Amino acid sequence: MPLETRWFVKTSLLWLVAAFALGAIMLIVQAFGRSIPASIIVAHTHMAFVGWLVNFIIGIALWMLPANRERFPKNRGRYPSGAVWVTFWFLNVGLAIRVIVEPLAAPHTPMAATEVLLTASAFAQLAAIVAFVSVAWFRVRSV
Ligand code: HEM
Repeated sequence: MPLETRWFVKTSLLWLVAAFALGAIMLIVQAFGRSIPASIIVAHTHMAFVGWLVNFIIGIALWMLPANRERFPKNRGRYPSGAVWVTFWFLNVGLAIRVIVEPLAAPHTPMAATEVLLTASAFAQLAAIVAFVSVAWFRVRSV
């Protein structure tokens, strides 16, 4: 298994544990009759779907999609490492910023710092996915 794939998959497993832990806390809090702030539910959802699912899928896709040696002569035709590390760090740091900052910013208390951080998080996660697609696009072809 290539190094980059291991980083994506192991990071996805850490997000899975974190999403389940937060989900369990939310369930217990609800069981005791307290309501969960919407921003916490959003954090839980993104930890599960972006943190676990998207990281897991990207890691396996970079490993398993058909190689394209003409396009990517290094790494057995898999990818240029730089684009993949951009995907990894922008996706995970962007997500971490979101799940930490969004609950702090809610409800309706805009502060300059949170606005800047959430904007950075949005662009980082979008850039991560564009970097991934710029590789995956050329690997989806007949072998
Ligand atoms: C990969 C696993 C999981 C995924 C993808 C997931 C996804 C979601 C989503 C999409 C919501 C928002 C539902 C809505 O309000 O419309 C949600 C809410 C919630 N989840 Fe999870 N979840 C996962 C695991 C868990 C686990 C393991 C627990 C508890 C042990 C849990 C507890 C909760 C609770 C308490 C809510 C709030 C429900 C509400 O009052 O609206 N989740 N989850």
